[in-house]
Amino acid sequence: MRMLVIFIFLSLFGVKVSLAHEGERHIESQPPTLVEDASLLKAINAEYLATIKPIFRRACFDCHSTQTQYPWYHNIPGIKQWIDSDIKEARKHLDMTNDFPFQGHGSPQKDFEAIRKTIQQNTMPPFRYKMMHWDAGLTASEKEGVLKWIDDNQKKVQN
Ligand code: HEC
Repeated sequence: MRMLVIFIFLSLFGVKVSLAHEGERHIESQPPTLVEDASLLKAINAEYLATIKPIFRRACFDCHSTQTQYPWYHNIPGIKQWIDSDIKEARKHLDMTNDFPFQGHGSPQKDFEAIRKTIQQNTMPPFRYKMMHWDAGLTASEKEGVLKWIDDNQKKVQN
């Protein structure tokens, strides 16, 4: 019996600290909020990769990432400059190249807010883009999915 008590005591305090956390000690020495933030953002990104990224890849990446698939008319002088400056402007606001958290606005909170607005107001992708890419508009259920991802996660991020 006494051995059992000692064993439990050891496994709760001694062994757990010395063995299980051995490899993570460098993380534990950081302020706890940073670790929480990082794993929270990772979790939000995991959801993004599974459900939202395929939608954004089709409808947003041509302008909001470095993975632009240029249309044939990109070669036409004048049009080329117009498209290039459109992409530059788009990426300045919101760059999805490296997944979530995005770059551009500088905070996940602001990104969520801005994306929610464009989805609700149906302003992205822009009409001029949908004219040439007839399949780029978001379906009702895709919009619902994006808004749900935002609703589920926006309140969790501080800024
Ligand atoms: C044809 C290029 C193009 C495509 C495709 C596109 N955007 Fe944009 N987007 C822009 C440009 C240009 C801007 C910056 C100027 C503006 O706000 O209209 C922008 C700005 C934004 C902003 C920032 C608005 C703000 O208030 O700062 C968000 C959010 C956004 N886009 C979301 C999206 C999403 C989500 C998609 C896909 C569903 C998408 N965009 C597809 C060109 C594009």
